[in-house]
Amino acid sequence: MSAYDAIARIYDPWSRTVVEDVPFYVEEAAASGGPVVELGVGTGRIAIPTAAAGIRVIGVDSSPGMLEVCAERATLAGVTELLDLRVGDLRAPPVDERVALVTCPFRALLHMEDDSSRLAALRAARRLLEPGGRFVFDVFAPSADDIEETNARWIEREPGIDERADWDEASRRLVLSVRGPDGAASTMSLAWLSPPEWRALLEEAGFDVEACYGWFDRRPYTGGEDSIWVARAR
Ligand SMILES: C[S@@+](CC[C@H](N)C(=O)[O-])C[C@H]1O[C@@H](n2cnc3c(N)ncnc32)[C@H](O)[C@@H]1O
Repeated sequence: MSAYDAIARIYDPWSRTVVEDVPFYVEEAAASGGPVVELGVGTGRIAIPTAAAGIRVIGVDSSPGMLEVCAERATLAGVTELLDLRVGDLRAPPVDERVALVTCPFRALLHMEDDSSRLAALRAARRLLEPGGRFVFDVFAPSADDIEETNARWIEREPGIDERADWDEASRRLVLSVRGPDGAASTMSLAWLSPPEWRALLEEAGFDVEACYGWFDRRPYTGGEDSIWVARAR
């Protein structure tokens, strides 16, 4: 049972305002020529517009509930032929194909809570790539101000959807709770790293870092909460 199953039906309204990354990932997919493997595909927030751009997507997720919503969205968008959804763990994705691009959008790698899980995920992504293929993902590390402003408080993020972040700076873990209408509620655990630590893990997993951006408009990373990585299989 994934923590996302219980909130699959409120994930889209909860993340309604998160749109800045969509054109970035669609551009990456188009540039690769496809198909793309998206690890942690969720409800298809990125995968549906990617498929709508004519790129085939293999989407892996451990939450059957999220994939069910994704499949419904694909039908509504008329892109079911281009979307291949598979239940599985992103550390051992059920994918035999080799592709030019693997992605892991919207901080899904923060669900890996220790280096051995992170390395397993990065190595799995690398195994899916054709020689010279690229792995593109984004992560974040909270600022002190963000922690101070939000810690241990229920905040209405969207109408009828509340979110609470319990930060532990010492262990760099976040317990994120969300509750919405009709009893939909879940609590999940995330863990963050600094950009130099992500770079070191990528290198250990057999990637060369091509770019580390500070935002989806491809400005270079110069500090800040978000980092967006483009890594090439060595
Ligand atoms: C923040 S959501 C991102 C969803 C989607 N990529 C997006 O951009 O909206 C994280 C997703 O990762 C999935 N996930 C978490 N841990 C996973 C794991 N170990 N293996 C596969 N999927 C996982 C969750 O079920 C969820 O759908």
